Amino acid sequence: EDASTLKPRPPVVCVMGHVDHGKTSLLDAIRKENVISGEAGGITQHIGAYVVDIKGEKITFLDTPGHEAFTSMRMRGAMSTDIAILVVAADDGVMPQTVEAINHAKAAKIPIIVAINKIDKPSANIERVKQELTEYELIPEDWGGDTIFVPVSAHTKEGIGTLLEMILLTAEVGELKENPDRKARGLVIEARLDKGKGPIATLLVQKGTLKVGDHIAVGSSYGKVRAMTDDKARKIRSAGPSTPVEILGLDNVPNAGDIFVATDNDKDARRFAETFISEGRERLIEQTKAKLSLEDLF
Ligand code: GTP
Ligand code: NA
Ligand code: MG
Repeated sequence: EDASTLKPRPPVVCVMGHVDHGKTSLLDAIRKENVISGEAGGITQHIGAYVVDIKGEKITFLDTPGHEAFTSMRMRGAMSTDIAILVVAADDGVMPQTVEAINHAKAAKIPIIVAINKIDKPSANIERVKQELTEYELIPEDWGGDTIFVPVSAHTKEGIGTLLEMILLTAEVGELKENPDRKARGLVIEARLDKGKGPIATLLVQKGTLKVGDHIAVGSSYGKVRAMTDDKARKIRSAGPSTPVEILGLDNVPNAGDIFVATDNDKDARRFAETFISEGRERLIEQTKAKLSLEDLF
């Protein structure tokens, strides 16, 4: 991409860690709303996407489930983000999905910030967590390493300001840029069928700007963006890079992790979807470049 077309974009941050170590609570504290009270049994079963505004600087957060059944969601989360926040409960320490999350972040080659949570608990042991993580090459700066560790409590909100500062600092080093002035491209975060509204897809726009009225192919589905809302359920007309949105207007429910592309017309959108069905994701990328001459889409 021509450097002159690139503009700064918000970081996309994936919150990962073992079940019940406090990922959703931490995001909840950051957003100052109450999310986990709306979850069945307090167990996250999907990826939630939220934009937080810190004194004019935006951060997009993806919450992921910690339950062992959701490995692929954690992997997709890491693969589609810039920074991983590894949440480790100070009373529980490193557990199987903590290790799995570390491996996903390393595979995705994204920086890891460790948030040691639940430090308000009498049984919290911050030093033990630091010690345990050295086994996975996550060494705190004060121990001569280069990993940022932030002790936090989602309950008392201690350390949350520092955590946000560290995220913004890490994002700054990455010099994250994208071209907003092109057709949108991105990923499906999740999708479902609404009885009244039809297929609803939560998308993460990665490149370009998605607009109401755009023709769009989303995995094996296609259609036209009929309506779009942001993470706060507000109606919006367009969404730039790093923005999560919910859209209506698809013919079918796509799968989480699918690619979406906005196209010039309905015919291209349909061809994308058909190619996806017949050839699969990898072939689609090749075919797209050849047949549709949309070179810079992928
Ligand atoms: P999954 O998404 O199911 O993996 O869980 P999670 O990591 O999102 O954890 P969640 O936010 O659901 O919190 C699990 C439990 O830990 C809840 O009972 C929270 O109230 C509690 N909890 C979370 N953060 C803290 C904290 O900072 N201090 C204390 N004392 N409890 C906390
Ligand atoms: Na939970
Ligand atoms: Mg959760």
